Amino acid sequence: MQELKLPKDFFFGAAMSGPQTEGAWRSGGKLENLWDTWSNEAIDDFHDCVGSYAGNDFTKRHDEDFKLLRSMGLDTMRTSIQWSRFLDENGDVNPEGEAYYHKLFSDAHDAGLEVFVNLYHFDMPTYLFRRGGWENREVVEAYANYAAKAFRAFGKEIRCWFTFNEPIVEPEQRYTAGIWYPFIKNYNRARAVQYNISIAHSLAVREYRVAKAAGLMMDDSRIGLINCFTPPYTKEDPSPADLEAVRMTDGVSNRWWLDIVTKGELPSDVVETLAERGCELPVRPGDDAILREGVVDWLGFNYYHPERVQAPAHDVDEAGCPVFADPYVWPDAVMNESRGWEIYPKGIYDFGMKLAADYPDLDWFVSENGIGIEGERAFKNSDGQIQDDYRIDFVRQHLAWVARAIQEGARCRGYHYWAVIDNWSWNNAFKNRYGFVEVDMQDGYARRPKKSASWLKQVASSHVIMTEEEN
Ligand code: BG6
Repeated sequence: MQELKLPKDFFFGAAMSGPQTEGAWRSGGKLENLWDTWSNEAIDDFHDCVGSYAGNDFTKRHDEDFKLLRSMGLDTMRTSIQWSRFLDENGDVNPEGEAYYHKLFSDAHDAGLEVFVNLYHFDMPTYLFRRGGWENREVVEAYANYAAKAFRAFGKEIRCWFTFNEPIVEPEQRYTAGIWYPFIKNYNRARAVQYNISIAHSLAVREYRVAKAAGLMMDDSRIGLINCFTPPYTKEDPSPADLEAVRMTDGVSNRWWLDIVTKGELPSDVVETLAERGCELPVRPGDDAILREGVVDWLGFNYYHPERVQAPAHDVDEAGCPVFADPYVWPDAVMNESRGWEIYPKGIYDFGMKLAADYPDLDWFVSENGIGIEGERAFKNSDGQIQDDYRIDFVRQHLAWVARAIQEGARCRGYHYWAVIDNWSWNNAFKNRYGFVEVDMQDGYARRPKKSASWLKQVASSHVIMTEEEN
């Protein structure tokens, strides 16, 4: 047994999002977002036909949930404001939406939790999607207006702000893989969306700095970006073409965001290669100056799995767009079969050390990490408690690598688990369960701590990880 220690001021918390927890989708003047629209149009696309409507009943149960989080030794939580709840179709504040979040934040604070607020979690309001969504610069401007209004409304309540969660995911899921509404498969359109989201991020940071200079934010407030960075790997004996696949995968998914948030620019090698291959970004005069304002105070690193790639079999896809990499299946990969994601705890260390080497001044925290398992009810003991030893192992291994990285100079400040209480996972709905706390759908969303909840409490209060592995 090896004992690894995390720093005393290392924080532990819960990551969640508005659209996956709140429910109450038709109350308080909330408008439709794309998840509501997809649920309305094709409910069969959702596991067990559970659409966006209910979340995990957080709106009704948030006081109970805050107590649960505190009982597990957690001190912080992150959620998102839903654009479609906070603003109306004219871009003005919806008073009921504003009151909803004031109450939520103040109840969390009363319970002893600090709330981190993210402004966007894949939840484009449908009326704005109908105007072109992220492909339309007017929607980018509308987002900047939304961010400015959120800073003004909640600037004196919230210290830690984030512009986006995983800005790479909508380009991927909605515009390249085409597996999320509106099911587009076009790499070049995806990059245009990615570019416009980058401008939106930078405009929001500008609004934040303006609000701070005007005394509207807390003195010690900070702003950041959260992304699901995927440490890139290839074959053990790679060809130059395999390494080129790594360069572009890493460039588009990781360096793109890291360069914006630390230098206020896009990685020039990536932009040049995209242009050479016919993928032109929708650049407008003045954009360089906007991007320069995208530098943030710290970063959130969501880590679920690495990205293993190799040289592509074809240079161009069916839509005539460039292909830079094919997936590489590592023969030694350990898989979470429920989600189809590789489990590779060392990736969190590799990427943390990369940040320390290439972006040495950047503070960060693990903003999401977790394991979603299908059919967890099969693991109930005679008292009805889910015995999720696999979750304990997963988190222990990842935290052990985080501790190692910190000992070797990584500037990691905390760890948020996704999702401490089971929640709605997009079109997978409640198929894969992530929580330390079960949400029993057959008993009106009742909450029941799993075996892992007491393990988490012990780690969060001691900051000590006991591990058998020789990392
Ligand atoms: C992250 C997202 O990518 O992964 C969450 O920020 C998401 O919104 C989580 O729920 C787990 O992925 P999934 O698809 O299994 O819910």
